[in-house]
Amino acid sequence: MAKMAASMVESKDDQFRKIFKFYKRRNPPPDYSDVIDFSKAVPSDKIVAAKLEPAEVSDVEAESVGLQPVRDWRAFGLKDYPGFLFISNPFLRGSQAFWARQCLKTYTLKPNVCNLDMHMSPSDTQDIWSKSVHELSAAPSGKREPKTLLERLRWVTLGYHYNWDTKTYSADHHTSLPADLYLLSLRITAACGFPGFNAEAGILNYYRPDSSLGIHVDESELDHSKPLLSLSFGQSAIFLLGGICRQDAPTAMYMHSGDMMLMTGQSRLLYHAVPRIVPAPQGEAALEREGVSLKVGSVLEPVSEEDWLLCSSYIQSSRVNVTVRQVLGPGQSFPDTQSAHQRTDAGQLVGYHEDKVVGNHDDQSGKRMRSSSWDSGQT
Ligand code: OGA
Ligand code: MN
Repeated sequence: MAKMAASMVESKDDQFRKIFKFYKRRNPPPDYSDVIDFSKAVPSDKIVAAKLEPAEVSDVEAESVGLQPVRDWRAFGLKDYPGFLFISNPFLRGSQAFWARQCLKTYTLKPNVCNLDMHMSPSDTQDIWSKSVHELSAAPSGKREPKTLLERLRWVTLGYHYNWDTKTYSADHHTSLPADLYLLSLRITAACGFPGFNAEAGILNYYRPDSSLGIHVDESELDHSKPLLSLSFGQSAIFLLGGICRQDAPTAMYMHSGDMMLMTGQSRLLYHAVPRIVPAPQGEAALEREGVSLKVGSVLEPVSEEDWLLCSSYIQSSRVNVTVRQVLGPGQSFPDTQSAHQRTDAGQLVGYHEDKVVGNHDDQSGKRMRSSSWDSGQT
């Protein structure tokens, strides 16, 4: 009885959950008039122009990772959230296509880890992209087509592979972070006043139109003085930024393709969530392939016509979010106690339900990412 009363008080005061449900609602759809749109933002009583460090990144360095000169970036902060930084799509025209392709075709390759590894063998998940191209071209016409691997992909981990069960990273489960993503992260964080950021872990979330990401705090990294960087491609999202407790009502904002966020300082450990995916304002042109001219020294590569076909069809209805994290501070190492829990290989996790594994450092439900097709019959 006492327990029930306690949970009632908790849900009544849980302003975050209330607003999360508001934006997640399908019928009737929510009113979006309170959602901040930084693509149209001007400084106001809530929004402040953020100061960047253009001298830290040369125009050539920015261009080599597909970014505009830093002096042209439109960067904002929020008055009530010191340490939170939002950069409205600073990518050069055409260059997002390369990063989206990397997220779908390259970062999904082994030795990186993905949700499909939890119940499939490494040989079955070893080339999600090519298998999906093949599945699509071989799809029997007329019949209800089974979902491609790409459509079933929910997350990929890079670098120190996040263990969803123990909520830890560990020295024993590490592969190298893709060099291009490392460099992109280094340039962005330097421009934002965090030189020497050491990108050590990445989590990619793949959102279908009905996916959401539960309320959580990213606190597993051992050094919270380092920023958490978030980048998105494809369809837009409603992102909720809350406070240090669930009673604090969150602020809603759009995250469009190419937008970036940094959670630093006092904002590093705030609750946040993605209750909803929304269509990109420009529709299919959320991201274009044309327009980029690649110079010597660029980490970008041309995206072939063939790659673009699958990439653009995926991104037409989906969103990819990449978060990049520095796990350890300078000279820091993992405490011994963590190695007792770590996951040694993907095979150990066979038998877990996908939904449970995806889920995690989350709200009471214990689930991190959801999509309504999984919700039915499971929650
Ligand atoms: C995360 C996260 C937000 C997003 O992966 O920890 O908060 O916009 N992602 O997908
Ligand atoms: Mn997060």
